[in-house]
Amino acid sequence: MLIKRASDLRSSEITDKKVYLGRREFIKAAAGAAAAGAGVLAGTDVLSAAGKPAPHGQKLENVQKSPLSVDPAKDKLNSWEDITTYNNYYEFGVDKDSPSLTAGRLKTSPWTVAVDGECAKKGNYSLEDILKGETLEERVYRLRCVERWSMVIPWVGFPLANLIKRMEPTSKAQFIEFQTLNDPSQMPGVQSPVLNWPYREGLRLDEAMHPLTILVVGLYGEVLPKQDGAPIRLIVPWKYGFKSAKSIVRIRFLEKQPLNTWQESAPSEYGFYSNVNPERDHPRWSQASERRIGEFFMRRTLMFNGYGDQVASLYSGMDLKKHY
Ligand code: MTE
Repeated sequence: MLIKRASDLRSSEITDKKVYLGRREFIKAAAGAAAAGAGVLAGTDVLSAAGKPAPHGQKLENVQKSPLSVDPAKDKLNSWEDITTYNNYYEFGVDKDSPSLTAGRLKTSPWTVAVDGECAKKGNYSLEDILKGETLEERVYRLRCVERWSMVIPWVGFPLANLIKRMEPTSKAQFIEFQTLNDPSQMPGVQSPVLNWPYREGLRLDEAMHPLTILVVGLYGEVLPKQDGAPIRLIVPWKYGFKSAKSIVRIRFLEKQPLNTWQESAPSEYGFYSNVNPERDHPRWSQASERRIGEFFMRRTLMFNGYGDQVASLYSGMDLKKHY
Protein backbone atom coordinates (compact mmCIF):
# COMPACT_ATOMS: atom_id res chain seq x y z
CA MET A 1 0.00 0.00 0.00
CA LEU A 2 1.17 3.55 0.47
CA ILE A 3 4.42 2.85 2.22
CA LYS A 4 5.47 0.13 -0.21
CA ARG A 5 7.28 1.56 -3.18
CA ALA A 6 7.03 -0.23 -6.52
CA SER A 7 10.43 -1.85 -6.09
CA ASP A 8 9.47 -3.38 -2.72
CA LEU A 9 6.25 -4.64 -4.12
CA ARG A 10 7.82 -6.34 -7.00
CA SER A 11 10.28 -8.21 -4.84
CA SER A 12 7.59 -9.20 -2.34
CA GLU A 13 5.50 -10.56 -5.16
CA ILE A 14 8.23 -12.59 -6.75
CA THR A 15 9.79 -13.92 -3.60
CA ASP A 16 6.57 -14.05 -1.59
CA LYS A 17 6.00 -17.23 0.34
CA LYS A 18 9.39 -18.88 0.10
CA VAL A 19 11.10 -15.86 1.52
CA TYR A 20 8.58 -14.87 4.12
CA LEU A 21 8.11 -18.48 5.21
CA GLY A 22 11.88 -18.77 5.31
CA ARG A 23 11.90 -15.81 7.66
CA ARG A 24 9.14 -17.35 9.76
CA GLU A 25 10.94 -20.67 9.91
CA PHE A 26 14.04 -18.82 11.05
CA ILE A 27 12.11 -16.98 13.77
CA LYS A 28 10.39 -20.17 14.88
CA ALA A 29 13.67 -22.09 14.91
CA ALA A 30 15.23 -19.32 16.96
CA ALA A 31 12.24 -19.34 19.33
CA GLY A 32 12.47 -23.12 19.57
CA ALA A 33 16.18 -23.01 20.30
CA ALA A 34 15.66 -20.38 22.99
CA ALA A 35 12.82 -22.40 24.49
CA ALA A 36 14.85 -25.60 24.49
CA GLY A 37 17.14 -23.85 26.92
CA ALA A 38 14.34 -22.16 28.82
CA GLY A 39 12.03 -25.17 29.03
CA VAL A 40 8.51 -23.87 28.56
CA LEU A 41 7.13 -20.46 27.72
CA ALA A 42 3.78 -19.29 29.07
CA GLY A 43 2.75 -22.84 29.86
CA THR A 44 3.17 -24.05 26.28
CA ASP A 45 5.86 -26.31 24.98
CA VAL A 46 7.36 -23.91 22.49
CA LEU A 47 9.11 -26.63 20.55
CA SER A 48 5.79 -28.14 19.59
CA ALA A 49 4.06 -24.74 19.38
CA ALA A 50 6.81 -23.68 17.02
CA GLY A 51 6.00 -26.65 14.78
CA LYS A 52 3.41 -25.81 12.18
CA PRO A 53 0.80 -23.09 12.55
CA ALA A 54 -2.41 -25.01 13.07
CA PRO A 55 -6.04 -24.31 13.83
CA HIS A 56 -6.29 -23.42 17.49
CA GLY A 57 -9.15 -25.76 18.31
CA GLN A 58 -11.93 -23.24 18.99
CA LYS A 59 -14.61 -24.72 16.76
CA LEU A 60 -17.71 -22.67 16.03
CA GLU A 61 -21.00 -24.54 16.51
CA ASN A 62 -23.70 -25.02 13.88
CA VAL A 63 -22.01 -23.47 10.89
CA GLN A 64 -24.12 -23.85 7.72
CA LYS A 65 -22.58 -24.03 4.24
CA SER A 66 -23.64 -21.12 2.06
CA PRO A 67 -24.71 -21.49 -1.58
CA LEU A 68 -23.09 -18.09 -2.21
CA SER A 69 -19.61 -19.66 -2.02
CA VAL A 70 -17.31 -19.86 -5.04
CA ASP A 71 -16.83 -23.30 -6.62
CA PRO A 72 -13.86 -24.99 -4.88
CA ALA A 73 -13.23 -27.03 -8.04
CA LYS A 74 -12.36 -23.78 -9.81
CA ASP A 75 -10.91 -21.89 -6.88
CA LYS A 76 -8.83 -24.11 -4.63
CA LEU A 77 -8.86 -23.12 -0.98
CA ASN A 78 -5.75 -21.56 0.48
CA SER A 79 -4.37 -23.35 3.50
CA TRP A 80 -4.86 -22.27 7.12
CA GLU A 81 -1.18 -21.45 7.15
CA ASP A 82 -1.38 -19.18 4.07
CA ILE A 83 -4.40 -17.36 5.47
CA THR A 84 -2.96 -16.84 8.94
CA THR A 85 0.66 -15.99 8.19
CA TYR A 86 0.42 -13.73 5.13
CA ASN A 87 -1.60 -10.79 6.40
CA ASN A 88 -2.09 -7.08 6.11
CA TYR A 89 -2.88 -5.62 9.51
CA TYR A 90 -0.77 -2.51 9.94
CA GLU A 91 -1.69 -2.06 13.60
CA PHE A 92 0.55 -5.11 14.11
CA GLY A 93 3.32 -4.10 11.71
CA VAL A 94 3.70 -3.67 7.98
CA ASP A 95 5.41 -6.95 7.08
CA LYS A 96 3.18 -9.78 5.94
CA ASP A 97 4.27 -12.04 8.78
CA SER A 98 4.20 -9.39 11.53
CA PRO A 99 0.50 -9.78 12.44
CA SER A 100 0.85 -13.54 13.00
CA LEU A 101 3.87 -12.91 15.19
CA THR A 102 2.57 -9.97 17.23
CA ALA A 103 -1.25 -10.07 17.29
CA GLY A 104 -1.30 -12.65 20.09
CA ARG A 105 -1.53 -9.89 22.67
CA LEU A 106 -4.83 -8.56 21.29
CA LYS A 107 -7.62 -9.07 23.84
CA THR A 108 -10.74 -10.01 21.88
CA SER A 109 -13.11 -10.70 24.77
CA PRO A 110 -15.05 -8.87 26.09
CA TRP A 111 -15.64 -6.89 22.88
CA THR A 112 -18.00 -4.00 22.31
CA VAL A 113 -19.10 -2.35 19.09
CA ALA A 114 -20.53 1.18 19.33
CA VAL A 115 -23.31 1.94 16.84
CA ASP A 116 -24.24 5.56 16.23
CA GLY A 117 -25.17 8.18 13.66
CA GLU A 118 -28.32 8.02 11.53
CA CYS A 119 -30.10 5.05 13.10
CA ALA A 120 -32.76 4.42 15.73
CA LYS A 121 -30.89 1.77 17.73
CA LYS A 122 -27.73 3.62 18.76
CA GLY A 123 -25.82 1.98 21.56
CA ASN A 124 -22.93 -0.17 22.69
CA TYR A 125 -23.38 -3.79 21.71
CA SER A 126 -21.38 -6.73 22.99
CA LEU A 127 -20.23 -9.27 20.43
CA GLU A 128 -22.78 -11.66 21.95
CA ASP A 129 -25.57 -9.09 21.31
CA ILE A 130 -24.42 -8.71 17.72
CA LEU A 131 -24.41 -12.45 17.13
CA LYS A 132 -27.73 -13.08 18.86
CA GLY A 133 -30.17 -14.83 16.55
CA GLU A 134 -27.68 -15.03 13.65
CA THR A 135 -27.06 -18.24 11.73
CA LEU A 136 -23.37 -18.56 11.02
CA GLU A 137 -22.52 -19.55 7.46
CA GLU A 138 -19.34 -20.75 5.85
CA ARG A 139 -18.79 -18.74 2.69
CA VAL A 140 -15.83 -19.46 0.49
CA TYR A 141 -14.86 -16.12 -1.06
CA ARG A 142 -11.91 -14.79 -2.95
CA LEU A 143 -9.93 -12.01 -1.29
CA ARG A 144 -8.04 -9.80 -3.75
CA CYS A 145 -5.50 -7.38 -2.39
CA VAL A 146 -4.57 -4.14 -4.13
CA GLU A 147 -0.98 -5.36 -4.01
CA ARG A 148 -1.96 -7.97 -6.62
CA TRP A 149 -2.06 -11.13 -4.56
CA SER A 150 -5.19 -13.11 -3.86
CA MET A 151 -6.43 -16.03 -1.78
CA VAL A 152 -9.53 -18.22 -1.52
CA ILE A 153 -10.79 -18.32 2.04
CA PRO A 154 -13.56 -20.21 3.88
CA TRP A 155 -14.86 -17.35 6.03
CA VAL A 156 -17.53 -17.89 8.66
CA GLY A 157 -19.92 -15.02 9.13
CA PHE A 158 -23.37 -13.58 8.51
CA PRO A 159 -24.82 -10.91 6.23
CA LEU A 160 -24.07 -7.35 7.34
CA ALA A 161 -27.59 -6.52 6.08
CA ASN A 162 -29.07 -8.41 9.08
CA LEU A 163 -27.29 -6.15 11.55
CA ILE A 164 -28.10 -3.01 9.55
CA LYS A 165 -31.81 -3.85 9.58
CA ARG A 166 -31.73 -4.42 13.34
CA MET A 167 -30.15 -0.98 13.85
CA GLU A 168 -32.99 0.70 11.90
CA PRO A 169 -31.15 3.29 9.81
CA THR A 170 -33.04 6.55 9.31
CA SER A 171 -34.06 7.74 5.82
CA LYS A 172 -31.03 10.06 5.89
CA ALA A 173 -28.50 7.19 6.18
CA GLN A 174 -26.76 6.80 2.82
CA PHE A 175 -23.37 5.47 3.95
CA ILE A 176 -21.88 3.32 6.68
CA GLU A 177 -18.47 3.68 8.26
CA PHE A 178 -16.42 1.12 10.19
CA GLN A 179 -13.79 2.13 12.71
CA THR A 180 -11.38 -0.41 14.07
CA LEU A 181 -9.48 -0.75 17.32
CA ASN A 182 -6.69 1.78 17.98
CA ASP A 183 -4.98 0.72 21.19
CA PRO A 184 -1.23 1.35 21.50
CA SER A 185 -1.05 -0.90 24.55
CA GLN A 186 -2.03 -3.91 22.44
CA MET A 187 -1.02 -2.85 18.94
CA PRO A 188 2.66 -2.08 18.37
CA GLY A 189 2.03 -0.75 14.86
CA VAL A 190 -0.10 2.22 15.89
CA GLN A 191 2.91 3.87 17.51
CA SER A 192 4.11 4.54 14.00
CA PRO A 193 2.35 7.17 11.89
CA VAL A 194 2.13 5.05 8.70
CA LEU A 195 -1.61 5.72 8.72
CA ASN A 196 -3.89 8.14 10.48
CA TRP A 197 -5.37 5.81 13.11
CA PRO A 198 -7.94 4.47 13.76
CA TYR A 199 -8.28 2.54 10.51
CA ARG A 200 -11.57 3.58 8.88
CA GLU A 201 -13.48 2.22 5.90
CA GLY A 202 -16.86 3.00 4.45
CA LEU A 203 -19.47 1.69 2.04
CA ARG A 204 -22.53 3.07 0.36
CA LEU A 205 -25.55 1.69 2.22
CA ASP A 206 -26.72 -0.39 -0.75
CA GLU A 207 -23.25 -1.99 -1.02
CA ALA A 208 -23.36 -2.71 2.70
CA MET A 209 -26.82 -4.30 2.35
CA HIS A 210 -25.76 -6.52 -0.56
CA PRO A 211 -26.06 -10.23 0.32
CA LEU A 212 -22.37 -10.83 -0.50
CA THR A 213 -21.23 -8.35 2.19
CA ILE A 214 -20.59 -10.19 5.43
CA LEU A 215 -19.35 -9.69 8.95
CA VAL A 216 -16.85 -12.43 9.69
CA VAL A 217 -16.17 -14.13 13.02
CA GLY A 218 -14.51 -17.34 11.87
CA LEU A 219 -12.24 -19.13 9.46
CA TYR A 220 -12.21 -22.84 8.50
CA GLY A 221 -15.03 -23.42 11.01
CA GLU A 222 -13.00 -21.99 13.89
CA VAL A 223 -12.95 -18.71 15.80
CA LEU A 224 -11.28 -16.03 13.68
CA PRO A 225 -7.52 -15.75 14.40
CA LYS A 226 -6.41 -12.37 15.71
CA GLN A 227 -4.18 -11.60 12.73
CA ASP A 228 -7.22 -12.04 10.46
CA GLY A 229 -9.24 -9.40 12.30
CA ALA A 230 -10.73 -11.05 15.39
CA PRO A 231 -13.21 -10.92 16.85
CA ILE A 232 -15.25 -9.32 14.03
CA ARG A 233 -14.30 -7.98 10.61
CA LEU A 234 -15.88 -7.05 7.34
CA ILE A 235 -15.56 -8.88 4.01
CA VAL A 236 -16.68 -7.27 0.75
CA PRO A 237 -15.48 -9.77 -1.84
CA TRP A 238 -15.77 -7.64 -4.99
CA LYS A 239 -13.57 -4.86 -3.57
CA TYR A 240 -9.86 -4.71 -2.84
CA GLY A 241 -8.98 -6.25 0.50
CA PHE A 242 -8.31 -2.95 2.25
CA LYS A 243 -12.07 -2.26 2.37
CA SER A 244 -12.46 -5.26 4.67
CA ALA A 245 -11.81 -3.60 8.04
CA LYS A 246 -10.56 -5.80 10.87
CA SER A 247 -11.39 -5.79 14.59
CA ILE A 248 -14.34 -3.39 14.25
CA VAL A 249 -15.24 -1.30 17.33
CA ARG A 250 -17.56 1.33 15.86
CA ILE A 251 -20.20 1.45 13.13
CA ARG A 252 -21.64 4.81 12.06
CA PHE A 253 -24.58 5.49 9.77
CA LEU A 254 -23.90 8.63 7.77
CA GLU A 255 -25.66 11.01 5.44
CA LYS A 256 -22.45 11.97 3.62
CA GLN A 257 -19.71 9.83 2.10
CA PRO A 258 -16.96 9.28 4.70
CA LEU A 259 -13.23 9.66 4.07
CA ASN A 260 -11.52 6.27 4.33
CA THR A 261 -8.07 5.88 5.81
CA TRP A 262 -6.26 4.94 2.59
CA GLN A 263 -8.11 7.56 0.60
CA GLU A 264 -7.04 10.13 3.16
CA SER A 265 -3.38 8.98 3.01
CA ALA A 266 -3.09 8.90 -0.78
CA PRO A 267 -6.16 10.22 -2.60
CA SER A 268 -4.62 9.78 -6.04
CA GLU A 269 -4.06 6.08 -5.34
CA TYR A 270 -7.10 5.01 -3.32
CA GLY A 271 -10.67 6.09 -3.92
CA PHE A 272 -13.89 5.50 -2.03
CA TYR A 273 -15.19 2.60 -4.12
CA SER A 274 -12.08 0.43 -4.59
CA ASN A 275 -13.86 -2.15 -6.71
CA VAL A 276 -11.51 -4.74 -8.17
CA ASN A 277 -11.03 -3.44 -11.69
CA PRO A 278 -8.42 -4.82 -14.12
CA GLU A 279 -8.93 -1.77 -16.35
CA ARG A 280 -8.12 0.83 -13.77
CA ASP A 281 -4.45 0.66 -12.90
CA HIS A 282 -3.07 1.75 -9.59
CA PRO A 283 -0.87 4.78 -10.44
CA ARG A 284 2.23 2.76 -9.55
CA TRP A 285 1.32 -0.66 -10.98
CA SER A 286 -1.12 -2.48 -13.24
CA GLN A 287 -4.13 -4.27 -11.76
CA ALA A 288 -4.66 -6.46 -14.84
CA SER A 289 -3.17 -9.56 -13.27
CA GLU A 290 -2.80 -11.13 -9.85
CA ARG A 291 -1.00 -14.01 -8.24
CA ARG A 292 -2.87 -16.44 -6.08
CA ILE A 293 -0.80 -17.23 -3.01
CA GLY A 294 0.53 -20.77 -3.49
CA GLU A 295 0.58 -20.52 -7.30
CA PHE A 296 3.51 -19.67 -9.50
CA PHE A 297 1.87 -18.09 -12.54
CA MET A 298 -0.02 -14.83 -12.57
CA ARG A 299 -3.71 -14.98 -13.49
CA ARG A 300 -5.91 -12.45 -15.21
CA THR A 301 -7.76 -10.21 -12.75
CA LEU A 302 -11.54 -10.52 -13.05
CA MET A 303 -13.77 -7.44 -13.01
CA PHE A 304 -15.34 -7.12 -9.54
CA ASN A 305 -13.09 -10.02 -8.51
CA GLY A 306 -15.39 -12.36 -10.48
CA TYR A 307 -18.59 -11.26 -8.67
CA GLY A 308 -19.81 -9.04 -11.54
CA ASP A 309 -23.05 -10.96 -12.18
CA GLN A 310 -24.12 -10.21 -8.63
CA VAL A 311 -22.85 -6.66 -8.13
CA ALA A 312 -22.39 -4.82 -11.45
CA SER A 313 -25.92 -3.39 -11.23
CA LEU A 314 -24.92 -1.41 -8.13
CA TYR A 315 -22.78 0.77 -10.39
CA SER A 316 -24.87 1.13 -13.53
CA GLY A 317 -24.29 4.47 -15.20
CA MET A 318 -21.12 5.19 -13.21
CA ASP A 319 -17.71 5.69 -14.77
CA LEU A 320 -15.67 3.24 -12.72
CA LYS A 321 -12.37 4.67 -13.94
CA LYS A 322 -13.38 7.96 -12.39
CA HIS A 323 -15.06 6.46 -9.33
CA TYR A 324 -12.20 4.13 -8.42
N1 MTE B 1 -7.98 -3.64 8.87
C1 MTE B 1 -7.24 -2.98 9.77
N2 MTE B 1 -7.80 -2.59 10.93
N3 MTE B 1 -5.93 -2.67 9.56
C2 MTE B 1 -5.31 -3.03 8.38
O1 MTE B 1 -4.10 -2.74 8.20
N4 MTE B 1 -5.54 -4.08 6.18
C3 MTE B 1 -6.48 -4.29 5.08
C4 MTE B 1 -7.68 -5.14 5.49
N5 MTE B 1 -8.19 -4.72 6.78
C5 MTE B 1 -6.07 -3.72 7.39
C6 MTE B 1 -7.42 -4.02 7.70
C7 MTE B 1 -5.84 -4.87 3.90
S1 MTE B 1 -4.77 -3.85 3.04
C8 MTE B 1 -6.12 -6.13 3.46
S2 MTE B 1 -5.51 -6.70 1.98
C9 MTE B 1 -6.92 -7.07 4.28
O2 MTE B 1 -7.29 -6.52 5.55
C10 MTE B 1 -6.12 -8.33 4.52
O3 MTE B 1 -6.87 -9.29 5.21
P1 MTE B 1 -6.15 -10.66 5.62
O4 MTE B 1 -4.88 -10.34 6.32
O5 MTE B 1 -7.13 -11.39 6.50
O6 MTE B 1 -5.89 -11.41 4.34
